[in-house]
Amino acid sequence: MQKYRSDFPILNRIINGKLLVYFDNAATSQMPLFVFEKMKEFEFNRRANVHRGVHTLSEEASVMYEQARKTVSDFILANDPSEIVFVRNATEAINLAAYAWGRKNINKNDIILTSEVEHHSNLIPWQILAKEKECTLTFIPVNEEGKLDFQKIHPDWSKVKLVAIGHAFNVLGTINDITKIVKNIKKECKKSGSKSPRFLVDGAQSVPHIPVNVKKFGIDFFAFSGHKMCGPMGIGVLWVNRNIFGEMSEFLTGGGMIDRVSLLESGFAKPPERFEAGTPNVTGAVGLAAACEYLTGIGMENIRKHEVELTSYALRKLRGLKNVTIYGPAKAEDRTGLISFNINGIHPHDAASILDSEGIAVRSGQHCVMPWHVNNKINATIRASFYLYNTADEVDRLISGLEKSVKMLI
Ligand code: ALA
Repeated sequence: MQKYRSDFPILNRIINGKLLVYFDNAATSQMPLFVFEKMKEFEFNRRANVHRGVHTLSEEASVMYEQARKTVSDFILANDPSEIVFVRNATEAINLAAYAWGRKNINKNDIILTSEVEHHSNLIPWQILAKEKECTLTFIPVNEEGKLDFQKIHPDWSKVKLVAIGHAFNVLGTINDITKIVKNIKKECKKSGSKSPRFLVDGAQSVPHIPVNVKKFGIDFFAFSGHKMCGPMGIGVLWVNRNIFGEMSEFLTGGGMIDRVSLLESGFAKPPERFEAGTPNVTGAVGLAAACEYLTGIGMENIRKHEVELTSYALRKLRGLKNVTIYGPAKAEDRTGLISFNINGIHPHDAASILDSEGIAVRSGQHCVMPWHVNNKINATIRASFYLYNTADEVDRLISGLEKSVKMLI
């Protein structure tokens, strides 16, 4: 993987006199030149609005936008490109599902099943929906190792209308076996004589790191962001199983999502355009497609293998430090390439500041998962998150930086 480092100019940055070690990939990843060049080509040679003009540039921009949809669709092995709705990010994707599907289909006393360790973006839309509809949120707990523990919940399956869970958790790194979870829940529902709920999966922390096949999951919605997978910020995707579009009502409305308009009423375009009101982020879509091409060129299996090796090495090294608590699954194979941890007696922000003085970027805090931290009486955590361009030498620098923190602060 070392050879791909030169694709990322930012990795040459000197921060506080030291070569940057970028370990904040779960917050956002870096962009390779390939992606930037593709966006530049669009901006400087083909920039025009899409699906709105017959002139050459508009035609070219429209073709590129639709080609981007196809590339993204192929990347997650969707049924067809029409299942890809371009949005701003995973957060907007989940909100779109909550507003367009949730408001139409969730009713009083229904249950939305989610977990106790979701990113706020896969919690707050459901909290608001639950208040509005007077329905219940039920939380699947996680065990000591950060794995979902279904033994501890016994919901009335006939009332469960939506299951909304992360494919990989952004604090614990846990990879959830979505296919198995969906199968088991469908079995429970069948046993109780009730209909299967709909499934939404937050893939923000999985799509950049592990091969994803949305068709295999047996789910209905899948959300992810471009900026965590070498793409630009401001573009994301809600994948909608094509059989579900009919259950959704309009969300954002206006230009681009209609097929006819009179002063008093309108008819709407077919999905996905129906859910993409206004001028879309064409440059972003082109960049996201380029990121998919870039990652495919390296091979998602290779990226996964590299991250498992690196995470396994980092776990071993971290366990060698005194007074360290590591959260999440014990084995690197059960997690994505991220590790949240604490060192007894050191505040995560202090450790992160000392690491920054060594040129090492990690995230410290609650990582948009406040309930899990509060419920476990954990003030905050330090999170090191890896990507394809990170190396074992960089992990060694992290360990040295942590040793320096211990010397300075304890
Ligand atoms: N969701 C991003 C993170 O976990 C921002 O850091």
